[in-house]
Amino acid sequence: MPAAMTRTILLNPGPVTLTARVRAALGRGDWCHREPEFAALVRSINARLAGVYAELAEDYDAVLLTGSGTAAVEGMLCGFAPRDRSTLVLANGVYGERMARMLAAHGRPHRVLDHDWLAPVSIPRLEAALAADPAISHVAVVHHETTTGRLNDLEAIGQACRAWGVGLLLDGVSSFGAEHIAGRDWNLTAVAATANKCLHGAPGLSFVLARRDLWLRPGPRPGSVYLDLRSHHAAQHADGFSPFTQAVQLAFALDAALDEHREEGGWQARRATYRGRAARVAATLQDLGVTTLLPPSESGSVLWSYRLPGRLGYAGLHDALRRRGFVIYAGQGRLAPGIFRIAHMGDISADDLDRLCAALRAAIRGRRR
Ligand SMILES: Cc1ncc(COP(=O)(O)O)c(C=O)c1O
Repeated sequence: MPAAMTRTILLNPGPVTLTARVRAALGRGDWCHREPEFAALVRSINARLAGVYAELAEDYDAVLLTGSGTAAVEGMLCGFAPRDRSTLVLANGVYGERMARMLAAHGRPHRVLDHDWLAPVSIPRLEAALAADPAISHVAVVHHETTTGRLNDLEAIGQACRAWGVGLLLDGVSSFGAEHIAGRDWNLTAVAATANKCLHGAPGLSFVLARRDLWLRPGPRPGSVYLDLRSHHAAQHADGFSPFTQAVQLAFALDAALDEHREEGGWQARRATYRGRAARVAATLQDLGVTTLLPPSESGSVLWSYRLPGRLGYAGLHDALRRRGFVIYAGQGRLAPGIFRIAHMGDISADDLDRLCAALRAAIRGRRR
């Protein structure tokens, strides 16, 4: 088969390999974002995004945003991290640290509870920080820290937020649609996420779900025009229109992706699918002497990190797999020299998984000889 026709399977943490149905939806037509049919689509997508979690469906409203996941996270912080109180960032990877950079860039008072990238968030340290500083009104944390694949213990963090009466600002970019997210039980103020990871849409659309009463209350001065999400909320929830041009075709794709998500059984089914893929890949790699970076019990379903085996460098492994049609992902920052990452999202068939395991065996055994 010529190279151009080879199906490439993306095992990076988004964008994902699209299903044929989602890819076809991209070509649904040329619509104006200021015509009623698009407004109706935005309203429907927003309602369906809130409906992904029963706990959010009643009293959280979504705002659809053209921009990558970072735009949604930054918009969430602009809209809900106060200027007259403080936000405590729990950081144990690139994306937690990025939230601290955003708060600094927007002049929002904050403190960072730094952790080693391989460590879980410390609940005793969190509670001590909350006890020591009554100015803290919000906690910001990443749900699935894609740097390592750690699923932060949001049950414990959320319970602490509720017990201490502080709002939770959640980066759910790489968990929304495949891991459990609670609402009032976690004192969740808002969660930011994206179309192109666990929901299997195309890249370039993101969204923020926040408690409806908080959208309607005046927030801190936003410090941004584009990311003033209350203006998006006001417009989208009045008539479905947005203040700025939306990525119309990406909305078609997200609409189709949400259909598939629901038909497949929602976030629980997607988590089960990802867990199955993770177990299969990890078992194959274990046979080859490749170990996980984190204990599996601390990893989520979405992505696992592995220690690069022996003398095999990342580039060699990446290129060998790429030749066989699979794109894996490097580690970030100081983890880059020692690890590689494999995500489990997107349209991956049983046959693809068989071929991936064969490709891993060939790449790793071949290199060791
Ligand atoms: C947890 C998390 N937050 C934020 C982002 C940033 O998303 P984007 O690259 O779409 O801007 C990512 C991307 O992988 C992520 O995994």
